[in-house]
This record gives sequence, structure tokens and C-alpha cells, in this order.
Amino acid sequence: MIAPSILSADFARLGDEIRAVAGEGETRADWVHVDVMDAHFVPNLTLGLPVVKSLLKATDVPIDCHLMIENPDKWAIGYAEAGAYNVTVHVEAAHDPVALAKNLRAAGAKAGLSIKPNTPLEDHLETLKHYDTLLVMSVEPGFGGQSFITDVLEKVRTARRLVDTGHLKLVVEIDGGINADTIEQAAEAGVDCFVAGSAVYGAEDPGKAVAALREQAAR
Ligand code: DX5
Ligand code: ZN
Repeated sequence: MIAPSILSADFARLGDEIRAVAGEGETRADWVHVDVMDAHFVPNLTLGLPVVKSLLKATDVPIDCHLMIENPDKWAIGYAEAGAYNVTVHVEAAHDPVALAKNLRAAGAKAGLSIKPNTPLEDHLETLKHYDTLLVMSVEPGFGGQSFITDVLEKVRTARRLVDTGHLKLVVEIDGGINADTIEQAAEAGVDCFVAGSAVYGAEDPGKAVAALREQAAR
């Protein structure tokens, strides 16, 4: 699956930018990835629930909310109630990630847990039993256009093994530095869903970029 991140899109034309990856066939994104940043958990500020609510009205592509915010225990539920398909919170920010996952699911969303590049996966395996997606960060969260951190592929391989052996039931998602040069190694390590910001919205034709990345990941 390919999830374009609108962080690299033109924020004045978000509806059009999403429509560019919401056509029919191979140019269609599987999910649209929306990066919510609060200038506290990460040193950058983007958008919040009012914008996400408008985006939900503007497209039928499932919205994948990546909340890089403090106290997601309080704020994440609103995104689930609004109709986001998947709501991902950071394990480094959540106070009670198990309760949070239950609340997200009760509100009708998939529950996602994200881990920063230096956060060990092994410390959170019990928590992950309550989640539907694992978002492995392959850059320090906060900004688009950074270089892929190859070391995180070890976490992807571990997660893939745990899923394939039935110990966890998770969509394995990766976020940061995914492009034509890195997607094949991520696919080989066992990623199910690839977030790509600059590689999609930096391209002349975002839809074609989605198709090209998907084809490369399947190689
Ligand atoms: C970074 C965000 C990413 C970002 C990825 O903190 O979580 O979703 O948009 O951008 P690229 O694909 O350019 O690394
Ligand atoms: Zn993201």
C-alpha cells in the first residue's frame, strides 16, 4: 500500500492535491497520510482536527492520521470520531497506550502506534497486541524531505516476523525518506504500507509517482 503524505503538498490547495492521488486504478493512493504536529512533541506545527474534518469531506480515500502531539490520550479520539480510517499516536507521548487503542477502536478507527527511530520495538510488544498498525519512523519525526535511516529496517524485520508467526496482527507501515532509492529495501524487510511525502508531492505528477512507487515495492 502507498500512503502519500500531504505534508509535502501545497497547503493552499489540499483538496486538489488529494484528488491528484484519488483517481482510478494504479495512480490511486491506498491511504492519504496526514501529519498532525503540535510544536511540542515535535519542533514543527502543521494542522489539526478542523482541517482533517474538511479533508474527510473532500475525499473517499481512507485518511491515515499521524499524530505527532503531546497528550494523544486526550486529543486522538476526536480524529477517530470524525471518521479517520487509522489514527496513529506515538508510544513516546501516550500515557496509557492500551486504553487509548481501545478508545480509538470503540470510536470506529483502526488504532496505530508509532515509534521513533531510537525507540526500541522490544519494549512495546505487549502494547502492540492492542493495535492494528505499527508506524515505524525512518526519520526523526517533524519534517519532510529527510534522509532514510537504514537501521530501522531491523525493527521492520522483527515486526514482520512477529506478524508472520501470528504473535502480532499488525499492518507494518514505514514513514520517512521513502523514495525510488529506498522503497525496495523497505519492501524487502517486510513493510506493508509506505508513507511518501516529498517523493509523491515533489513529483510532477503525484498520481504517477504513486503508481511508480507501488510497482517498485512489488518488485
Ligand atoms: C515526518 C512525517 C512524514 C513526512 C515524510 O515527521 O511523519 O509523514 O511527511 O516525508 P518524506 O516522505 O518526504 O520523508
Ligand atoms: Zn507521518
